[in-house]
Amino acid sequence: MRIVQIGTGGWGKNHTRILSQLGALCAVCDTDSTRAKEFGTKYSVNHYSSLDTLLDSEKFDGAFVCTPTSTHFKIAKTLLEQKKNVFVEKPMTYLSHEGEELQKLAEKNKLVLTCGYIERFNPAVALVKEYVKSKKYGELIMLEFHRENRMPLHIKDVGIIYDTSVHDIDTAMWFFDDTPEVVFARSGKIRHEHEDFATIMLGFKDNKVAVIASNWITPTRVRKFSAVCGDAIISSDFISQEIKIETNHGTEIPRKEVEEPLLLEIKNFLAASEGKEKIIVKPEHAVNTTKVAEAALLSSQKGTPIYLDLK
Ligand SMILES: NC(=O)c1ccc[n+]([C@@H]2O[C@H](COP(=O)([O-])OP(=O)(O)OC[C@H]3O[C@@H](n4cnc5c(N)ncnc54)[C@H](O)[C@@H]3O)[C@@H](O)[C@H]2O)c1
Repeated sequence: MRIVQIGTGGWGKNHTRILSQLGALCAVCDTDSTRAKEFGTKYSVNHYSSLDTLLDSEKFDGAFVCTPTSTHFKIAKTLLEQKKNVFVEKPMTYLSHEGEELQKLAEKNKLVLTCGYIERFNPAVALVKEYVKSKKYGELIMLEFHRENRMPLHIKDVGIIYDTSVHDIDTAMWFFDDTPEVVFARSGKIRHEHEDFATIMLGFKDNKVAVIASNWITPTRVRKFSAVCGDAIISSDFISQEIKIETNHGTEIPRKEVEEPLLLEIKNFLAASEGKEKIIVKPEHAVNTTKVAEAALLSSQKGTPIYLDLK
């Protein structure tokens, strides 16, 4: 596989490192030509400061788009039109109808299109997903997420819902294997141009619920979740990947290996592009996450619940 990396900023540099380790990186592109040159030189690959020049000069099979959210749609559309498999960082697009357009284009051109909902590749999330699926600790009833961080000053185009809460929206839908019927949210801003704190409630069928609390005010990095099941409460930390299971009979700490979610995520995209694996994050999942984020923002603006009918 020959893969190009578009956007080599704070997050994209991690993709660049892993793609190079896997021997798949053939070029980098960043409108900041200094960054493009830095990473092109570091990994001994061609570097470009415009997508058009890259498309004119490179032969490649797929691309990672790791640029600001507001640019995702245009870049991904161009790549899909050029018959390239595309991995777009989260959220796939700012507007859900743009995501639907990408999804249709990928289907028409028989291409892999996916989005960076990385927590699905977090070994802690994968293990809890197994427990939920097998009902090892009973039926999943309620989820609670806490994602807190100091304000990322370089994120200018979106607020915390599109930047941060989307991870937990996707994970909640992944755990419940369902989409919410209703969304209710409160959000506000203290220091950022867009909302910098939000609490979102997703109501699933049979009164199941996910509560997602995110803020850019807490000075330390917190990324935790808990899953209330019929026979246990399972809590986990996305960062340490530790899991604690509390039942009526005591506390269990399952043992498992710590793995880098980004490596697993990139491997899945490469294998899916080669037709060896199914893609884990399907484009329709990413579109639904954007629809829920749109509903959360609307709910917090209107002060009312938003009822959804997602497929
Ligand atoms: N999955 C995750 O856990 C995770 C974590 C952080 C960021 N992200 C996502 O990654 C994306 C980038 O975030 P970041 O923190 O790296 O931002 P960043 O600002 O640090 O980097 C963006 C880079 O893209 C370049 N760029 C901008 N427009 C471009 C264009 N049209 N063509 C080519 N390059 C362009 C910029 O010069 C910059 O180097 C965002 O979508 C963000 O939501 C995902």
